[in-house]
Parts: sequence; structure tokens; C-alpha cells
Amino acid sequence: MASPAGGAGVERPLLSLKNINMTFGGVRALRDVSFEVRPGEVHCLAGENGCGKSTLIKVITGVYRPQDGAEILYDSETFTHMSPVHAQASGIQVIWQDLALFPEMSVAENIAFQTVLGHRPRLVNHKAMRATAERVLARLGVTLDIDLPLREYAIAQRQIVAIARALVGEAKIVFMDEPTASLTQSETDHLLAIVRNLSAAGVAVVFVSHRLAEVIEISDRITVLRDGRLVGVYPAEGMTQSRITELMTGKTFDQSVRAASHAASPPVLTVEGLTRRGEFEDVSFTVRRGETLGITGLLGAGRTELALTLFGMRRPDRGSVTLDGRPVRFASNREAIAAGVAYLSEDRLSLGLIQPQSIADNLVIASMRRILSGGFIAERKKRDLVAKWIADLGVKIGRQEDAISTLSGGNQQRVAIAKWLATDPKLLILDAPTVGVDVGARAGIFDIVARLAESGLAIILISDEVPEVYFNADRVLHMAQGRIAGEYDPRRTALKDMEAAVYA
Ligand SMILES: Nc1ncnc2c1ncn2[C@@H]1O[C@H](COP(=O)(O)OP(=O)(O)O)[C@@H](O)[C@H]1O
Ligand SMILES: [Mg+2]
Repeated sequence: MASPAGGAGVERPLLSLKNINMTFGGVRALRDVSFEVRPGEVHCLAGENGCGKSTLIKVITGVYRPQDGAEILYDSETFTHMSPVHAQASGIQVIWQDLALFPEMSVAENIAFQTVLGHRPRLVNHKAMRATAERVLARLGVTLDIDLPLREYAIAQRQIVAIARALVGEAKIVFMDEPTASLTQSETDHLLAIVRNLSAAGVAVVFVSHRLAEVIEISDRITVLRDGRLVGVYPAEGMTQSRITELMTGKTFDQSVRAASHAASPPVLTVEGLTRRGEFEDVSFTVRRGETLGITGLLGAGRTELALTLFGMRRPDRGSVTLDGRPVRFASNREAIAAGVAYLSEDRLSLGLIQPQSIADNLVIASMRRILSGGFIAERKKRDLVAKWIADLGVKIGRQEDAISTLSGGNQQRVAIAKWLATDPKLLILDAPTVGVDVGARAGIFDIVARLAESGLAIILISDEVPEVYFNADRVLHMAQGRIAGEYDPRRTALKDMEAAVYA
């Protein structure tokens, strides 16, 4: 969706960089990169992990000084490098991944402390500070209790506070480095709405995200980097997820569809007329042994609500669910797990894995009873179980005791899958399994999914990225506004036709 200021017309850039080179030790993080931001546009910086996105942002914001020969043009001035003070003072703001906020301070203080501090630190004008905070939050269309300490708020609100703080200083460009990595879908939607507001108000937003669907939806333009080099700058309009992936990796995903017929296999799950008012209506389908059923659709189509209902976390209003030939009606997810349903949630960070806890603890959490001995955890059994799954799924770890947060997104996702496999399920529901996982690691996850299906597991694969279900599922259901709008066999449908139907 192009904002007026960021549209296709040729416009003088607000920021333009040329000949940017940056080396760390022997690593050439950026090679002859150029980059440009127009006033008020939404610009995505895309590329695989390690391609130099964060480094480029740090060059622009003055954290790093590029090698000689760099040319930075900002607001009609030319520089060979930026200084953090100058960047900030002239309207270049960054939301760092760790947000750099103060949990013990109030929301108002976090937003407006620096600006009202003046030259005499003791004379903090609380009234002016609160007024500034209120004004900026109103501009973002957000209501927060500005007197509460920030620690009372979850990560999504903290991020909004960080954005609000950036806006206090009359931002012209706001950089957001992976702002959606740890947000749930609805929090992400909210953040994207804020990004649109900023752009409409003339503030350019440059953001980094691995969620390609949202990248295409919200950006005016996309700059792709690969191995520290510029691949190109592309209008988001007309861009597809598979095309961006190709540009990012340099590989043409000469993927062949994995789909095969399982019509002769016994059904594992049969859903008939399942309805939860306001969320989904009259949903019917079957998943068979060894089959991967893809479910795709736009945000808000009811896919996650359906999954949560199958997992016993919501009660349906109408309809029936049959698992392995027996009608089931789960009162809780514990009952669903006991009956052989596993659900890998869309929000790995808040519902799936517990970040401060160890790899081992995260892995065994859903299958405790297997490692209990007389009511106590048998450490030996636990180690062996963890070691088995780590090896089976090829998770790259240091020690089992390390915090799960020390692993990359792809490896965390493997642990999350292992956690559910350890419960010995019949049906595995994967909800957006590659959100926050970089494209390189995605293929590995789908290889695991294919192996699991081969071993006889029935799998439901939910994704808003049509190519993911197209290439990795046997059949694909398209959900729209809570209903099944279509069913596709990837062997008989072209990817572009399915994309056209879903993204229409
Ligand atoms: N401070 C640093 N010291 C050494 N190497 C670094 C540093 N920052 C980044 N790198 C290296 O530079 C390359 C680009 O990193 P980065 O900009 O963080 O990538 P991205 O943000 O795209 O994932 C990587 O190879 C990374 O390991
Ligand atoms: Mg980065």
C-alpha cells in the first residue's frame, strides 16, 4: 500500500548513501552498498541473517563509521560519516532490538525524560514531561497509563514506548530493526498500523523483518541485501514472497511440490461443521495418516482460532471432531495432548518456548511424565531424551543447560517441534512455523515436517505464505473470513493461481 509521499513518483531522497564499505576483522559486512530513503515512505531492508542489515542501520545512525569513500547525503547536507548525536538531533531515530528502555521508570519518563531534562538534571519538569508523553502517544493512537512503571507492560507496549520516545525528537526517519520478531500476530498488526500512521504523517520508516507477507503488504519499496552487497531496490507492489526469497538467497527455489495422495490412508482427524461464532463457520475436512494438510488465508481468516479449538483451548459452538475414529470434545489442551494432539503455536516466544529457561527444560516441558520417576525428574532420563531429540532434529546447541534464547530462530523452532514430538502425537498442528526463522533455516524445518509425515504423523500446516503450503503440503485449504473458501491440489494448480486466489 503506497503512501502518497512514498509513491512511485520520482522524488528527491531524504537520505541517500553511496559507496558504503564496512569490515569487521576479516569480515566484509558491507561492500559498495548504496541505499536511499524517500520522505514519508515505508522501506523494508530485507536479507538473510548476517547479510549486513543491522550494520547498515548502524552506519546511518552513526554507531559505525564506514570506510573512506562513503558518501552520505541527508536533508541536503553531505557527510562522509554520521555521528550518533548529529543523526539524532537531525531527525534520524532508531528503535533498537533491545529497545534501550528503563523498566523501573514510568512510561512518561521513558518517553520524554531526555527532552525535558534540559541542562540542569535536577530540575525535571514533570508536568511538561507528562504532557509530551501524552501528546506523542495520542499521535500514535495509543492509550497507555503513562504513570505506570514500564515493567508493568509487555514487550509490545514497550516497543510502542520506544517508538514514542523516538518521535519526541521530531523524527524524519525511524529505523526499526526486526520490530516484529517477538510479537504475536495481533501485536504485529497493531505495530503495522502505527507504521502506516507515521508514514501518513510524513515520517519515513525503514524496517527489517523476516515476515515476508507483512513486508509486501506494508512497504512502498524493498531493498534487498545479500552477503553484504546490494541486490537491488524493488517496488513492493507486484512483489511475491517467493521472488523476495530468491533475491535474498540468490537461489532459484526450483522447488518441486511434495504433494502426494493419501486418499487410501486411514483418517486421523475428521472435522465436521465446526463453528465458533464470530471466528469460524461450518468448517469440515479430514487429515489422514502421513498426510500434510495446508491451511492458508489472510490474517484474521480464523486459522489460528480453528487450531486452538482443535487443541482444546477453545470450545466450539457447533460441529464435531473425530480423532482416530473416536469423537472427542476436549475441555482443555491437557486433554488434547493426552489424546495425541500437538500444537506448535504461532507465537513461539510467548506461548511456545520459555526464553529464560534452558534448552533441556523447554524440550521436556510437555512430556514430563516420561521422565518422572517416583514423582521426581530422573535427570538421566531427561538428558537422554533431550539428547535423542537434539540429534534427531539436528538442533545445533552448545550445552543442554544453555538458555533457549541463545539459539538462532531456526534452532529454537526445532526445539519447539521436538518438544511436541516428545509427547508422541498422532496429529501435529504447526501454526506459522517459520515466522521469525530466516529463509535459509526454513528449508530445514520443512525437511523435518516431511520426515514426520513419512513416519505416519498427520500434520496440519498453517501459514499465510502461500508458497510454504503450496510446496510442503499434500492438499491446501484456503480459509477466508472464517470459512473454507477453496481446496487446492498443488500438483494440479499453479502457484501463481493459488496466490492470486488467496491474496485477492
Ligand atoms: N560488531 C561486529 N563485529 C564483528 N563482526 C560483526 C559485527 N557486527 C556484524 N558483524 C558481522 O557482519 C556481518 C553482517 O552482520 P549484521 O549487519 O548484523 O547482519 P544482519 O543484521 O543482516 O543479520 C555478519 O557476518 C556479522 O557476523
Ligand atoms: Mg540484524
